[in-house]
Amino acid sequence: MNENNVTTKVNDRSQHGMWSSKMLFVLAAVGSAVGLGNIWKFPYMMAEQGGGAFFLIYLICIALIGFPVMAAEIMVGREGRMSPVNSILKLAREHNRSKSWSLMGWAGVVGGVVILSFYAVIAGWIMFYIWRMFSGEFTGIEAAASGEKLDAFLANPWQILLWFSIFIAIVVFFVARGVNKGLELAIRICMPLLFVLLIVMLIYGVAQGGFMDSVRYMFDFDFSKMTWETPVAAMGHAFFTLSIGMGAIMAYGAYMPREGSVKSAVGIIIVIDTLVAIVAGLAIFSIVFAMNMETTQKVGLLFVTAPTAFGNLPLGAIFGGLFFLFVGFAAFTSGISLTEPAIAYFVEKFKTSRVKIAVAIGVITWVLGLLSVLSFNLLKEFPFNSENWNFFEIFDKATTYFLLPVVGLIIAVFVGWFLPWDRVRKGLEIQSDLAWNIWIVAIRFVAPISILVVFAFSFHEKFIAPFLGG
Ligand code: TRP
Repeated sequence: MNENNVTTKVNDRSQHGMWSSKMLFVLAAVGSAVGLGNIWKFPYMMAEQGGGAFFLIYLICIALIGFPVMAAEIMVGREGRMSPVNSILKLAREHNRSKSWSLMGWAGVVGGVVILSFYAVIAGWIMFYIWRMFSGEFTGIEAAASGEKLDAFLANPWQILLWFSIFIAIVVFFVARGVNKGLELAIRICMPLLFVLLIVMLIYGVAQGGFMDSVRYMFDFDFSKMTWETPVAAMGHAFFTLSIGMGAIMAYGAYMPREGSVKSAVGIIIVIDTLVAIVAGLAIFSIVFAMNMETTQKVGLLFVTAPTAFGNLPLGAIFGGLFFLFVGFAAFTSGISLTEPAIAYFVEKFKTSRVKIAVAIGVITWVLGLLSVLSFNLLKEFPFNSENWNFFEIFDKATTYFLLPVVGLIIAVFVGWFLPWDRVRKGLEIQSDLAWNIWIVAIRFVAPISILVVFAFSFHEKFIAPFLGG
């Protein structure tokens, strides 16, 4: 009996390593989830989509789609104990299902590289702005001057390239060191600091006096501002912010120890991710409203409005610097998760060292990222679609609005309809019948149907028409 236990335990490990505890898995997943999505995208999408209406749909998507899909991903990873491609393959084989299901793992390999390629560009700006804020460059500045500073920075591809390359290099360095000495080390350092800084920012934001305005802004559900784009943006963002729909959380799940249920982990991850988005949003809008500034700056919210607001508030250089440092930690712990599906897969396939694979993935990401670096200057106007999207926007929208929800849909169908229920239930470690019934209905019906409904609502108009010369 004992011996048996020992052998199952030995086999029940991933070749890439294991998180030291369930708690570390949760922290790692939170690190992956909390990122630029929460702090850079979320506030500007709120601004773009009209605040509360977007927020409400986003919360509904998190509950109806995010929860079941994330649980499914983690379960598949933990059962497979390999990269997403091979974990899916393993389960498909065991249950006599087609090998083609593993294609969704491939989508994640590619998706991770594409997302990191533009993600690292913004992360690079964040690093530059940490330095800029601390240096006192924004103290007492006017909004127009702050805008000019951003424009000047973006006009120079070399400078963007420098910071973008530094970010990729740091990610590759940590990822190459492996699950325990790299990923886990990064998480142990960054996550506590991240939470401390978030609380500091909230207190600072509240102290500036714009807090009630920002609460009203976020929770005032004004549906008149809703457009065709709002549902698809909210759903895409729900996927993006939770890191689901491309196997990142599946890869992390493969290193999750057996003890502990998946659903409690998912609950914690989702609640923390959503809280961070709300708190960070409240903090940012508070300082913006305290200065009587507008939220309509879209992308400029984080890089023009926020620095201007900080620059005109007491101790703004320090708190502004700390704010960007906070965003930097968040971006870093997300960045490392984007490469894991690809790295784990190629290590399994080529049976070579993780260092080599990490460097190779880093180089590929870097080369692809050049298109996004240039999207703010040389390739700014790249008119092969009527919306004038540049590469950066195309990569962002193609993954966020399309790839993640589609892969999420396929994962839901695979787990809900093509795996035996007892296996799934055991994998999730759900004891209560009620919880199981809710979950299985969610993964079989609620999540897939919600995804399809949102697509039907707004897909064609925005994503097919522009390319057909509409
Ligand atoms: N969730 C992260 C954020 O909000 C980004 C991210 C990390 C991600 N890993 C991912 C997005 C995997 C999609 C898929 O910034």
